[in-house]
Amino acid sequence: MISLAGKRAVVTGAASGIGRATAELLAELGAAVVLADVDEAGGAEAEQTVIAAGGRAVFVRCDVSDAADCERVIATARDAFGGVDVLFNNAGIIRRSTVCGITEDDWDRVMAVNVKSIMLLSRRAIPLMRAAGGGSIINTGSGWGIKGGADAVSYCASKGAVVNMSRAMAIDHGPDNIRVNCVCPGDTATGMLVEEARQLGGSLEAFYEEAADRPLGRIGTPGDIARTVAFLASDAASFVSGAVIAVDGAGTA
Ligand code: NAI
Repeated sequence: MISLAGKRAVVTGAASGIGRATAELLAELGAAVVLADVDEAGGAEAEQTVIAAGGRAVFVRCDVSDAADCERVIATARDAFGGVDVLFNNAGIIRRSTVCGITEDDWDRVMAVNVKSIMLLSRRAIPLMRAAGGGSIINTGSGWGIKGGADAVSYCASKGAVVNMSRAMAIDHGPDNIRVNCVCPGDTATGMLVEEARQLGGSLEAFYEEAADRPLGRIGTPGDIARTVAFLASDAASFVSGAVIAVDGAGTA
């Protein structure tokens, strides 16, 4: 059984989906958690859920593409819990378009939320991890960051960047005992997938039906990803760094 007792974690995109499930699990395993999200209502609700279950949590309203917001998130972890041991860079957005149709604004927004955010948060968290003797950073990539996908060129580019920047960060910060890994979910039942289905003119049901033919016969749940992140956050993964881990039931990544 993994324990995260005594660890201080920051989770972005913690108001819903994968981030929320992960924040709840990390807290259940003993970590104190800062939940960061642009969605104030969802973030406050997630914070209350963790506290009601006996965990320690603080919600910070944050746009992860904004440098000052990111500084505030890490400062909150320092002031409320004394530091940061685990950083889960998970907030992300998707815009559907080919390279011919995408607007520059959409391109820049996807890059800022999915990629720049990791730099903004990590550069503040790493000095605290270094001071504490090490830490674990987990970045959320995507199966589409490895093999590409249709009609989402900015998203695929951003997630490819997340995959390779995770490897680069692992090399740079390994000497400080800071491990950096990238989790690449396949189709996972969250609000993002519902929105994707809507933009494609269908519903989540179509994803479930199509998944019946995949090796494990289903799409992922937020808990599937959360358990992988909890392992990577823990000391059980003390020699796992620079890894790109598909969590997709052998389905898409
Ligand atoms: P979700 O839409 O349920 O959650 C994303 C969260 O990020 C939301 O709470 C949203 O408010 C927050 N967020 C969006 N922009 C933000 C910003 N600028 N600042 C702070 N928070 C912001 O989606 P899901 O599926 O939980 O996504 C989590 C991560 O997993 C994303 O990086 C996504 O790209 C990745 N992913 C999801 C897959 C899926 O099938 N659901 C597949 C592969 C990767």
